[in-house]
Amino acid sequence: MSVMPVVGIDDLAIYVPKLYLDYKDFAEARGIDPQKLEYGIGIKKMAIADTNQDSACMAANACLKLMQKNHLHPEDIGRVYVATESSLDESKAMNSFVIGMLEQIYGEGSFEHAGGIECKFACVSGSYALYDNANWIRAEENNGKAAIVIVSDIAKYDMGSTGEYTQGAGAVALLIRENPRLMAYDPKVPSTTIKNEYDFYRPFGKETPLVNGSYSNLLYLISVRKAFDLYKEKAIKTGLIKLKDGESITDHIDYFAVHLPYRKMGEKALAYLLRHEWRHLPRWKHVIKEIGMQEPQPKDPRGTIESILADTEFMKADEQFRRAFMQTSFYNEVYEKKMASSLEASAIIGNLYTASMYMGLRSLLEFEFKKGIDLEGKRIGFGSYGSGSSAMVFSGIIQPQYKEVVSKMNLDEDIGPRQKLSMEEYERLHRNERTFKDSVIRAHKEFVLVRLGGNTADKAGFREYNYVS
Ligand code: CAA
Repeated sequence: MSVMPVVGIDDLAIYVPKLYLDYKDFAEARGIDPQKLEYGIGIKKMAIADTNQDSACMAANACLKLMQKNHLHPEDIGRVYVATESSLDESKAMNSFVIGMLEQIYGEGSFEHAGGIECKFACVSGSYALYDNANWIRAEENNGKAAIVIVSDIAKYDMGSTGEYTQGAGAVALLIRENPRLMAYDPKVPSTTIKNEYDFYRPFGKETPLVNGSYSNLLYLISVRKAFDLYKEKAIKTGLIKLKDGESITDHIDYFAVHLPYRKMGEKALAYLLRHEWRHLPRWKHVIKEIGMQEPQPKDPRGTIESILADTEFMKADEQFRRAFMQTSFYNEVYEKKMASSLEASAIIGNLYTASMYMGLRSLLEFEFKKGIDLEGKRIGFGSYGSGSSAMVFSGIIQPQYKEVVSKMNLDEDIGPRQKLSMEEYERLHRNERTFKDSVIRAHKEFVLVRLGGNTADKAGFREYNYVS
């Protein structure tokens, strides 16, 4: 029997637009307590795309960085996938635009031998794309070539809505190959859930999503927890993780990286998961003792998400219990050790939809390394969520060569100098009052949109990009 190749993430590169909105300006303009944004949501700066930027050029910018820093040429790459929920065309895939941009650098037709598609399932699609490409390499159909998966999005909500303070923009390009330097996927354990839901969606032609905020939060938690249950079953069955009496599977996961629509959601997801995993273990009585109250139960524990949300007495008590749990030494030990570093980037960039969990991974690696921790052999557990809805839980092990990649990571340098927008400038951008020809910043060493539509009807929808050197 042939041995399955070890496959995973070898390196990653990020692109973040240079404009941002400061939380204090935003809070003042909307009459919100800035403390709510800083601590209740966990946002300080939201990246805002310029008029000549879209998800395709952000994706190409991240991909070019990834290729340049790894001295990769198109012939080294067999697949370029883009996962996004900021699609530009109903038919033409975003990766075709990206290939067009990359070929301005590497030569016309230089990617012709490769393949790839655009993937959609709200924020989870990048995780599916990564896994499908990892399996393409494991199946040894890659002819020695690597795959690049780019996750790229602009999170834009209605002005004045509660979603407006969870905006952001950016892209992450990930290099997938055999014997990766960064992280190897744990095989046979990825687990998914899927259900037809309307927690967050964006009908055709609408620029901003329709959101049921509290429903989406609870659905995220429940979906990831269900996928985690399936992951646990597989991890035990395959012998990947061996549980001793009184242990939780979370004890065998060194780091958690989860979908981050906003920083606080990561903290809440960890709390929900730990409560679920610990409540039947001996340690729970010590947790309850520290909290000083019993865990509340919904009137109908087998009810729907709607019935749980409508059970206001339970919801109130559960909020109180969750907050108290998040104050315990038990939660805080896990949070500080296993999650906090992954949330740093989210607070200064904002929501990146498909890219948010991978920006979290990048943040986790950089800031844990800067603490001087030896990361070799550590297991990262991922909780990916996409509204609509699907969750994917998987894990990977940090590889011996990780230092080669992680020691060069510097978030501030990678983001580059940024320009703060006034609320007035931000609102003009939000209302699309400036065209792509009237960008706020003059682009430098990056791809931008230079033409939209042609002079004739058959060129409608054409998008032309240029690399500005
Ligand atoms: N100081 C400190 N904290 C404060 C505060 C103050 N003065 N005032 C309020 N807060 C706290 C609240 O107590 C609350 O904290 P907890 O979460 O610990 O309870 C927090 O600020 C948020 O406040 P609200 O509960 O009042 O929530 P909101 O009305 O501001 O809405 C939201 C928050 C639902 C996330 C909204 O921003 C939203 O709809 N966002 C878009 C949807 C979304 O991101 N959903 C996430 C799951 S779906 C998904 O993940 C897919 C995706 O990418 C969109």
